[in-house]
Amino acid sequence: MNFRVRPVRRLAGECEVPGDKSISHRAALLGALADGPTEVQGYLEGEDCLRTLTAIQMMGVDVTKKGPGHYRIAGAGLDGLSEPGDVIDCGNSGTTARLLIGFVAGQPFWTLLTGDESLRRRPMKRVADPLTAMGATIVGRAEGGRLPLAVRGAERPRAISYATPMASAQVKSAILLAGLRADGPVTVREPAPSRNHSEVMLRAFGACVERPDPLTVTLHPGRLRGTAVQVPGDISSAAFVLAAGLLVPDARVTVQRVGVNPTRTGLLDVLTAMRAPLTTTPYGAAVDGVGEPMAALGVSAASLAATTVAGELIPRLIDEIPVLAVLAATACGTTEIRDAAELRVKESDRIAALARELAKLGVRVDERSDGIAIPGGQRFRGARVVSGGDHRIAMALAVAGLVADGETVIEDAACVQTSFPTFVPTLNALAGGESITVEP
Ligand code: S3P
Repeated sequence: MNFRVRPVRRLAGECEVPGDKSISHRAALLGALADGPTEVQGYLEGEDCLRTLTAIQMMGVDVTKKGPGHYRIAGAGLDGLSEPGDVIDCGNSGTTARLLIGFVAGQPFWTLLTGDESLRRRPMKRVADPLTAMGATIVGRAEGGRLPLAVRGAERPRAISYATPMASAQVKSAILLAGLRADGPVTVREPAPSRNHSEVMLRAFGACVERPDPLTVTLHPGRLRGTAVQVPGDISSAAFVLAAGLLVPDARVTVQRVGVNPTRTGLLDVLTAMRAPLTTTPYGAAVDGVGEPMAALGVSAASLAATTVAGELIPRLIDEIPVLAVLAATACGTTEIRDAAELRVKESDRIAALARELAKLGVRVDERSDGIAIPGGQRFRGARVVSGGDHRIAMALAVAGLVADGETVIEDAACVQTSFPTFVPTLNALAGGESITVEP
C-alpha cells in the first residue's frame, strides 16, 4: 500500500491522536498480572499494541472489548497465567517482544516468541542478559540474541542490581516485570533517564517502586491491584501533526489530550529551542487515573532555527528524530543530531533511511555513525520514496510531502497501522481535503 501526498497551503483546526503506544502495552501487561480487573480506555488499537493483547490472551487472560479503545482485562494475578499453546508473534513490535520476554521470565513455563522480518533482525541480548542473570533460560538464534526465542521462566527470579549499557525503557521494563515475582528487590540503573511509564503505572497498580535518584529505580516484589487506566494521546504521533503545523505555510493546529510525561517531551524542548510558536495547555492533574500528565499542544506556521540535539535529550525524543530531521531541513542553519546510534536498531536503520530517502526528495543530510547533520534552508522536491516498512519513516516522509514541490509517493506505507492508524484521515481533516490518498 502506498501514500500519494499532494502539497497543501493550509492546515487548520483541532484533533486528537490515538493512545500512547508505550502506555497501552504496559496497561495490558500489568492488567494481566494484577489481581482483579483493569479497565483501559483510549487503548491504542494499532497493530503493535493489539499484538500485546493477543499475547496475554494466549496465556489465558480474559480480555473483553467494550468499545473503541476500551478493554476490560481480567487480571490473572502473578501466578495465574498459563503456558501459551503456540508461538507468540510479536509482529513489528520491539516493545511487545522485549517487555513480554521480561513478563514471562518470571513465569514457570515455556514461551516461544517470534516477529516479522524487521523484528527478527533487532537485538534481544540486551534483555536476555539481565533476565538470564535472574534465572530465566533464554535460547534461540544468535545465541539467544535474536527472535525466534524460547524462554523458560524462573520459578522464583533472583533479585538483581543491573546497570543497563544503554538508556532503554524496554530493557528497564523487562527487568521490572520479571522482578514482580523475584525473591528480593530489583534495581535498574541507566546511563540516562528513559521513559518512566512502567514505574508510574506500577505505582498506580499498588507496587512499591523507589527512585533513589533520576537514573535508578528499585522495585520491591509484590502483588498488583487492577485499576482504571485512561491512556493519553501519543506525543510520538502528535509529533507528525505538529511538524506539519509548523511547515505548511498557512497553518494553525492544536492536538488535544497529548501525554506530556517529562521523560517523553524532548521534542517540545527542541521545538522551543528552534523558536517554534508552541503552546502547551496542561489538563488538570491525574485525569488519566494513573498519574500521566496531559496537555493540549498548539503550533502555527513558522520559520525555525537550527539546533543541536544530543546527550540526555536523545532518549526523551528518540522516536521523534525522523520528523525532526524533516523540520531541520527547512530551518535556518545546520542541525546536529548526535549520540543517537540507537536509531540504527529501530524498526529500520533510521539514520541510513533518512539519508537515503530525504536525498530522493532533493534534501541532503550527512550521515554519521551516531546521528545526522542536516543543513537547513532546503526545499523538498516531490519524488517516489520507500518507508522500508518503518512507520515513523513513512509518516516523516509524508509530512515532507505536504510541503514538497509536486507529488510524493511513499511506498510500503501500510506500516503506519502499527502506531497511528488514523494518520491519513487526521491530516486530511486538518487540510480540509484529500491531500494524502491511500493506494493499494
Ligand atoms: C519504548 C521504548 C523506546 C522507544 C519505543 C518504545 C517503550 O525503545 O523507541 O518506541 O515503550 O518502552 P528503547 O527502549 O529501545 O529505547
